[in-house]
Amino acid sequence: MSLAAATVPTGAAGADGDVALRHLAVIMDGNGRWAQARRLPRVAGHRAGIEAVRRVVEAAPVLGIEVLTLYAFSAENWKRPADEVADLMGLLRHYIRSEIKELHRNGVRLQFIGDWRALKPDIVAMLDDARALTAGNDRLTLVVALNYGGQQELVRAARALAADVAAGVLAADAIDDAAIDARLDTAGLPPPDIVLRTSGEMRLSNFLLWQSAYAEFVVTETLWPDFDRAALESALAEFATRVRRFGGR
Ligand code: IPE
Ligand code: IPE
Ligand code: MG
Repeated sequence: MSLAAATVPTGAAGADGDVALRHLAVIMDGNGRWAQARRLPRVAGHRAGIEAVRRVVEAAPVLGIEVLTLYAFSAENWKRPADEVADLMGLLRHYIRSEIKELHRNGVRLQFIGDWRALKPDIVAMLDDARALTAGNDRLTLVVALNYGGQQELVRAARALAADVAAGVLAADAIDDAAIDARLDTAGLPPPDIVLRTSGEMRLSNFLLWQSAYAEFVVTETLWPDFDRAALESALAEFATRVRRFGGR
């Protein structure tokens, strides 16, 4: 194989220097601090966070984003007090119930990543219905990470690979990056161009570990409930100044 023909990852900068943006992935953080600053219960911060979700979902396709992934509940968030977990699940129900028609009308295709099928059966049914209803839409793909952990996702992919090898449908030495990609929850989606985290923390917290190999990190001080279209535009402007090399020169 000629080296010159080696892989150019999708999403690489165009020849004119444009920084292509297809997929924005967001670690929505700071709801608790937003509430604490107002001497409100944490649930008030999560409720205000849903308003920020509405604003960003509306702005994303207008700003040219094809795929928007939102980290809503991590596999580690079960460690929080039971009442906060219950509040978050209640807000998830409320969001899907109140927004699904509007999302559908706006051409949003809803998908979920993470072990979301382990949530309460009524939520799983609601999420399944939302996926089925919006499956044909193509204005924006909204991916909600629920009970998601990047390590857990890789464990599930490894088990799927092992099962295929054991069944004789896959040779162990045929396992490559594409074979792993195809067994992740994000199969079929482009990798994130930006991983954006609000509220100033500089960590991944088990988000899209494999997929963000060449993502650009953008961290904003804005707390998630204060995030709006202007904050999103500033984050995209920062991304536009980055030079992506993908290991090249
Ligand atoms: C993000 O806000 C929402 C979830 C993780 C579900 P936090 O609840 O983590 O807010 P902080 O980090 O405590 O401010
Ligand atoms: C990451 O935020 C998870 C979500 C945004 C859903 P956390 O607030 O849970 O992350 P840590 O605990 O500060 O790393
Ligand atoms: Mg947090």
